[in-house]
Amino acid sequence: MVKAAVLGASGGIGQPLSLLLKICPLVEELALFDVVNTPGVTADLSHISSIAKTSGFLKDDDGLKKALTGTDVVIIPAGIPRKPGMTRDDLFKINAGIVKELVQGVADHCPKAFVLIISNPVNSTVPIAAEVLKAAGVFDPKKLFGVTTLDVVRAETFTKEFSGQKDPSKTVIPVIGGHSGETIVPMFSQAKPAFNIPADKYDALIHRVQFGGDEVVQAKNGAGSATLSMAYAGYRFAERVIKAAKGEKGIVESTFVYLPGVQGGEEIIKQTGLEFFSTPVELGTSGAEKVINILGSATEKEKQLLEVCFKGLKGNIEKGIDFVKNPPAQK
Ligand code: NAD
Ligand code: LMR
Repeated sequence: MVKAAVLGASGGIGQPLSLLLKICPLVEELALFDVVNTPGVTADLSHISSIAKTSGFLKDDDGLKKALTGTDVVIIPAGIPRKPGMTRDDLFKINAGIVKELVQGVADHCPKAFVLIISNPVNSTVPIAAEVLKAAGVFDPKKLFGVTTLDVVRAETFTKEFSGQKDPSKTVIPVIGGHSGETIVPMFSQAKPAFNIPADKYDALIHRVQFGGDEVVQAKNGAGSATLSMAYAGYRFAERVIKAAKGEKGIVESTFVYLPGVQGGEEIIKQTGLEFFSTPVELGTSGAEKVINILGSATEKEKQLLEVCFKGLKGNIEKGIDFVKNPPAQK
């Protein structure tokens, strides 16, 4: 029996993500939580003739507690999205507090759940989540994930003409580092099956994956950021976490994890100086069972990208940790 909860379920990502979870045969119970509109979204989804029993909650009447009690997988896309001209870090002021509050709910009501963070800036919100869970004494690093699957999905899509795959999702491309601009490092050299990118196309491709989010933000022209592709990516990652938890072997996904708590993490910390990093992770019944270090196989170009990534990520991670350790004064 798998119960999934979506926090931020009425939003641009939350609604299509909830739809995908509602029709997922692996999910038997689906709880939707948001500060607005969950009654309507829940009524709508509940007419779909699929397995998942769907319930919806608002903040009042202990809504978060009711949504989270008994939950196995919590997916969090709550928070504001970017508008043109903003960076993901500009979202920190508002989203940091939202993520902190929701993860406190996880610590209180379903401390053993897998927690998948979508809310931006992921490079900082995942460290916030880790600190909240640590402070509550319930942190299991194997169960906390920053969802960076959209970067992988973009890498698969944008290289289709070179990989030659009719279905681009059949190419495995690790995308490592973090989830914003130059902290996103597509490791095209490690793609399987391998393919060749013409030298004159390489830089533009890297830039497109790193700044793919901006492309959508600009096209939406003030109406938000990626929602449908993110719902697909978030669902794809959640489904793999659930399948691995149920015992399916051989599932490896790039995701942003807390390295000290996962087998193989120490070696990556030594090379990066970072405690959080997105890297291919072997998923299993307990979550992130092993991180796979592909830094040693980086090409010279990829090494240069990684150097820039390490510097940017360091500050983002520290900012998240500091937000919980030294909370800003309440106004
Ligand atoms: P949105 O504004 O459409 O939806 C956000 C939802 O969160 C809203 O329904 C809002 O009511 C809800 N919310 C706000 N505060 C809440 C709280 N305290 N508790 C519960 N729900 C709350 O935004 P969106 O387009 O769905 O994006 C959501 C977040 O996901 C943004 O931060 C965005 O930057 C991020 N995002 C991340 C990725 C990624 O790859 N990780 C990709 C796309 C977007
Ligand atoms: C994305 O990569 O599309 C998301 O992180 C949303 C954004 O702000 O770009």
